[in-house]
Amino acid sequence: KLPAAYQVPLPIPAVARPASTAGGTDHYAITQRPANARLLPGGLVTPLWTYGGTFPGPTIVAKRGRPVTVAHRNELDRPSVVHLHGGHTPHDSDGYPIDLIMPAGMKDMGGMHDSMPGMPRMPGMTLPKGDVTQGSRTYSYPSQQRAATLWYHDHVMGFTGPGVWHGLAGFHLVTDDEEAALPLPRGDRDIPLMIADRSFAADGSFQYPAAPHGDPGVTRSWINGVLGDVVLVNGAPWPTLEVDRARYRFRILNASNARRYRLQLDPQPAGGGALVQIGSDGGLLDRPRPHDRIDIAQAERFDVVVDFSRYKPGTQVELRNLFASGGPGKVMRFTVRSTSGAADDSRVPAKLSAIEPLAAGSATVTRSFLFQRKGDGTGMGWTINGEDYHPGRTLAAPRLGRVERWRFVTDVHHPIHVHLDPFQVVARNGASPGEYDHGWKDTIDLRSAESAEVLVRFSDYSGRFLLHCHNLEHEDMGMMADFTAS
Ligand code: C2O
Ligand code: CU
Repeated sequence: KLPAAYQVPLPIPAVARPASTAGGTDHYAITQRPANARLLPGGLVTPLWTYGGTFPGPTIVAKRGRPVTVAHRNELDRPSVVHLHGGHTPHDSDGYPIDLIMPAGMKDMGGMHDSMPGMPRMPGMTLPKGDVTQGSRTYSYPSQQRAATLWYHDHVMGFTGPGVWHGLAGFHLVTDDEEAALPLPRGDRDIPLMIADRSFAADGSFQYPAAPHGDPGVTRSWINGVLGDVVLVNGAPWPTLEVDRARYRFRILNASNARRYRLQLDPQPAGGGALVQIGSDGGLLDRPRPHDRIDIAQAERFDVVVDFSRYKPGTQVELRNLFASGGPGKVMRFTVRSTSGAADDSRVPAKLSAIEPLAAGSATVTRSFLFQRKGDGTGMGWTINGEDYHPGRTLAAPRLGRVERWRFVTDVHHPIHVHLDPFQVVARNGASPGEYDHGWKDTIDLRSAESAEVLVRFSDYSGRFLLHCHNLEHEDMGMMADFTAS
């Protein structure tokens, strides 16, 4: 039985406070631990794997140019890896999927680790040993990047799907002076929305169809990825939010394992264009782009401004998912207050930022990546250029500082994500980029039998990084590759 919709107020994840600000760096400490949460109305308890006891984890707010460190201590019963999605991060802090944090308090058991849940494995092959730490690891984020909505999440090879599903995800916002100088909604009217679908068992626990015996991946019927039948926003099922008749900025993240959404407000205000996009994965667009609806794939971010003064006081405005099967699905509901709240002096300026276009003519290297299923039955997997993931096997060796043209081709729908630096979409299916492709992107949503061309320039960190499908079950079943920047 599903929980009733619109019963729970939207939670806002707490902003983390640095444990120290010594030496011009913000130092944070997060303990990864199991927690029991009351996500559902009616008192049922949902056991979670969390960052700091909550789902979403605490929001880290970083300022451009001011470095951040996050000391993660692992008090879960399985290894973990933390990736800052969208972060411009050196290799050793990027969360390479075999650079495990082993659980604290667990003695080194030698080969016994192999039988531990969530331990990376490649059936029939020996896995290279990563940079494994015992109990904790400190990640360093230089914060040399534009203001943008980033997020952090678990990234253990073969087990990212269950890790994120059980709660290992949080926001990490980068701010900068350019953005702060704009008259955009701020404070209580700047709200992150982490949208993630989940299924619950009758006892309130999350249901995840893991492969038998703790192998990576899922049971056969979920090879296209795991979908839930309840939509959580910031961890609450179909929540509600009371809003003033004012502009709000929503930083929308699709943190679902496998679900895409087509988001639309219902009713739409007269004149349409209710979702004014101001930012993308990699921060502000050059100018605002109003949409009636937004298609958002896994891991993508859309930063939008909604002006609720376009609605009459008392209006209930639903955020709907038009991609839900069987008619528009619920996501959350806003209630426009009748009382007047604090005055709204925000605006969406006609010019937001300057986006330096990468010069297509300077791209001397073109690489193609084919995202494709291989095999059937037990040999089934998901591959890039016919290879399933093998740490250390590199599919591309881009040179730092040069513009490259990367071409992605799909068999079925795959949201494709590149670590280290964002890219610009220059073509979709041989034609102009789509209406959701503007600005700096780190994830591009490709539907069945589509192709895209993007320009990317890896600027200054050498080493091994990842590109992969962000359908987390595809990723876990091999649709991931290393590239080595130098
Ligand atoms: Cu959001 Cu490699 O991941
Ligand atoms: Cu995929």
